Amino acid sequence: METPPFLAACRREPVPYTPVWLMRQAGRYMPEYRAVRRRLGFLELCRSPDAAAEVTVTAVERLGVDAAIIFADILLVLEPMGVGLEYETGDGPVIRRPVRTATDVDRLADVPAGALGYVAEAVRRACAALSPRVAMIGFAGAPFTLATYLVEGGASRDYRHTKALMHGDPGAWDALMARLVGAVADTLREQIAAGADAVQLFDSWVGTLSPADYRARVLPHMRALFAALPKGTPTIHFGTGTAGLLEALRAAGGDVIGLDWRVDLDAAWARVGHDVAVQGNLDPVALLSPVSAIRARTAAILGQAAGRPGHIFNLGHGVLPDTPVDHARALVDAVHELSQR
Ligand code: CP3
Repeated sequence: METPPFLAACRREPVPYTPVWLMRQAGRYMPEYRAVRRRLGFLELCRSPDAAAEVTVTAVERLGVDAAIIFADILLVLEPMGVGLEYETGDGPVIRRPVRTATDVDRLADVPAGALGYVAEAVRRACAALSPRVAMIGFAGAPFTLATYLVEGGASRDYRHTKALMHGDPGAWDALMARLVGAVADTLREQIAAGADAVQLFDSWVGTLSPADYRARVLPHMRALFAALPKGTPTIHFGTGTAGLLEALRAAGGDVIGLDWRVDLDAAWARVGHDVAVQGNLDPVALLSPVSAIRARTAAILGQAAGRPGHIFNLGHGVLPDTPVDHARALVDAVHELSQR
């Protein structure tokens, strides 16, 4: 059997066309997703392997992408820690009992093996329903981004409590990060055992850190995490706002480095090195403009990648909720057409 183009690109092997998928491709912008959500709460949906697999596969079929990403959420792993995770609050996910001291860290419950078994089961069911040309991506939040939710209690603008813990009690910070590394490695290994062909780590908010803080308080934990994953499965290391951190992200690990739209793909690729693959990097806002403009901007990014092996096309961050599905589909078609080898 032919290697799916997405996996070939992760390994920097030649591909017939540039593979493409979209972060948050199965979300609220899609009418089929909203229909499922009228029946099921968000957590209920995540915990129903059949419904989660269905949402995953529907997005792939609607868009014609080269990879599925399992429908789940980065914060699910925090739930068994007993911190009061809630989604249906109206202002995004909330942690009712934030973790701000060494005592709070000590009090975190261990995540029992198999606590996220429902995610692995959804991976298994989605794999069975997908065409063999389409790869399955498992995912988790990176420890820093998970820690921001745990410490702040939800979304944040300046991450002041997170940075206060990191600098005020580095020992407690490292203990928290080590706990998160263990829990994330466990769920990723389960997703891989269930059939995930690759895994992505979302370090969505890491761009708030100075390079020195990243190197001292995050990079060693990321190295430990990558070392705990099975060798043959490609890993994608994604963050946003990382223009000041690209070399450090690369040093931390990953077979593919995810780039946001604030960097030129060609310059960023040169910085991380052409001996690693890259994923990105169209501005998600571009999908709100007419299809002719989307095609022109797609061509520009493909031009920067210059047909080099190891480029996976994606947005620089997730699909916005008001994106027209037709525009997302037009992007996928444009990538496939314009990159034909
Ligand atoms: O196809 C897919 O990509 C869907 C799977 C997926 C979700 N969340 C579903 C979801 C993935 C890969 C994520 C990752 C995620 N979750 C990240 C990292 C990616 C990024 O955007 O930076 C983060 C930071 C989260 C945390 C989270 N979960 C937030 C901030 C929110 C609320 C805001 C939002 O974007 O909706 C969620 C809830 C969530 N996760 C929804 C979905 C589809 C919306 C739930 C709903 O209202 O139906």
